[in-house]
Amino acid sequence: MNRNKLVIVGVGHVGSAVLNCALAFQLASEIVLIDTDGEKAAGEALDTSHGTPFAYYSPNIDVHDGDYEECRDADVIIIAAGPSIMPGEKPDRLVLADRNVKTIREVMSSIVRYTQEAVIIIITNPLDVISYCAQNFFGYPKEKILGTGTTLETARLRRILANHYSVDPKDVQGYMLGEHGNSAFPAWSLVSVAGIAYDKLDAYFQPAKPLDTAAVGRQVVQVAYDVLSFKGCTNSGIAVVACRIARAVLSNEGSIFPVSTTLEGEYGLSRVSLSLPCQIGAGGVKRRLAVPLTAEETEKLRQSAASISQVLRNTGL
Ligand code: LAC
Repeated sequence: MNRNKLVIVGVGHVGSAVLNCALAFQLASEIVLIDTDGEKAAGEALDTSHGTPFAYYSPNIDVHDGDYEECRDADVIIIAAGPSIMPGEKPDRLVLADRNVKTIREVMSSIVRYTQEAVIIIITNPLDVISYCAQNFFGYPKEKILGTGTTLETARLRRILANHYSVDPKDVQGYMLGEHGNSAFPAWSLVSVAGIAYDKLDAYFQPAKPLDTAAVGRQVVQVAYDVLSFKGCTNSGIAVVACRIARAVLSNEGSIFPVSTTLEGEYGLSRVSLSLPCQIGAGGVKRRLAVPLTAEETEKLRQSAASISQVLRNTGL
């Protein structure tokens, strides 16, 4: 059992899914739940304890509610606080900016009173705006704060392509890049299966219908809103994404995920956070990879950056 301590801030739909995934992954020996509604955090911890007699994960994982002082010796803090888009709202995570910049300011102000050591994984939307705020305005080591970013879109892309070619999604390589949101795009030049480039896959796998790259790019962005419409929220996919990144931190894996970090001149971009493939390990982001992109992909990245930067300006960041 890993002797790690995980703190989850915000135990709504997403935070409670993160808790259950963290247990299933056996990420930590202690998991602390923080929420503005203390009773909800206590109830979540108590409810979870009732699964331990029959669960396959260790019954000795200490799950309890707490306050921000619990961050003092935390190894990883996952922030899922603040409202999400509701069904029927404008399908654009950027509409949450004003509300959740306020949320992240409150959460980060509380965290920095107790630690500068924990790696912070942000889920709260609009993810790139919130990540930029947390990374740049609280004096916290920048490499220790990352947003889940387009790792979720990348998971969706890989799942869609795995379905198209009837392969294991773990055998699909490639990334969605840019904004965790409507301007996210597939970097097709990086997509492959078994080393076979995306534009040759149909010849090898004879799918029922040819790959329509434009349609797949749109589908990856749209599918989040489909889930939202069907079930009223999204939580399961993002919970696995956040816990998988947390595993890379806690096991010092050096594995690569497209997470949201503040760019420092890559592709001529700075003063903005968005997703590029990053190597993740014990200290958070070990390195950000300015991967080779086509001219079209570079332009899409710049358009994504411009969309996020506009909202950063509008929110005074
Ligand atoms: C989604 C939320 C996490 O894309 O933004 O499901």
